[in-house]
Amino acid sequence: MEVVIVPDATAGGELIAEAIAALLSRKPDALLGVATGSTPLPVYQALAAKVRSGAVDVSRARVCQLDEYVGLPEGHPESYRSVVLREVVEPLGLSESSFMGPDGSAEDIQAACEAYDRALAEAGGVDLQLLGIGTDGHIGFNEPCSSLASRTRIKTLTEQTRIDNARFFDDDIEQVPHHVITQGIGTILESRHPVLLATGEGKADAVARTVEGPVASVVPASALQLHPHATVVVDEAAASGLKLADYFRATYAAKPRWQGL
Ligand code: GLP
Repeated sequence: MEVVIVPDATAGGELIAEAIAALLSRKPDALLGVATGSTPLPVYQALAAKVRSGAVDVSRARVCQLDEYVGLPEGHPESYRSVVLREVVEPLGLSESSFMGPDGSAEDIQAACEAYDRALAEAGGVDLQLLGIGTDGHIGFNEPCSSLASRTRIKTLTEQTRIDNARFFDDDIEQVPHHVITQGIGTILESRHPVLLATGEGKADAVARTVEGPVASVVPASALQLHPHATVVVDEAAASGLKLADYFRATYAAKPRWQGL
């Protein structure tokens, strides 16, 4: 995988927004897989700024969700559908019809998961999948020991993830759902270009295990090592556990700029 070390979260957001803009200029109706959480927000802000300045045309872009809570009432502000509408779809001026996600309130969750995997395939597959990382190394909501071949399915959150996400629920862990739907690791690996962004010291250990550890389901993000074109963008703090940081810096510095990510 390619590891790019940037000075800070803003620079990471700008770099990935540039990659998305380049993708959309090659393929205007690209399907962008978006992640929730705090980390990707600088990407969405940088992309929205490019849309406002006319530097990128997103009018034909399509957006799809990575994961979703199960059982939140429809329209709950912290459902990932609401978050993506608020942080991505609306600021980019996209229509709701260009946006797809799994149905976390379906009666038959398993059928909803299978339907979502089918819908992604029928849409031509995800062109660029933006990912964050959990402190335990999860991507999407694929918690440690998720099958590396998994498809979209229901998962149970670890206590750590519910603690991490309580900040979105009035700091009340009781309000954080136990169950979620997530694209599987196998599903994520089918995207043409997974791009993981990690910022802050709290992610340093998970990043080091993802990049320099063995591929192991106990660190779900390490599965990205199996993808022929995976990019990991980290700020200095999140890179602080990488033994090969200098090598990654030198490699990226030597890369021709026109190649992009
Ligand atoms: C949640 C999401 C992940 C996200 C992670 C990290 O668990 N399901 O997709 O990567 O949070 O969030 P943050 O970026 O806020 O640290």
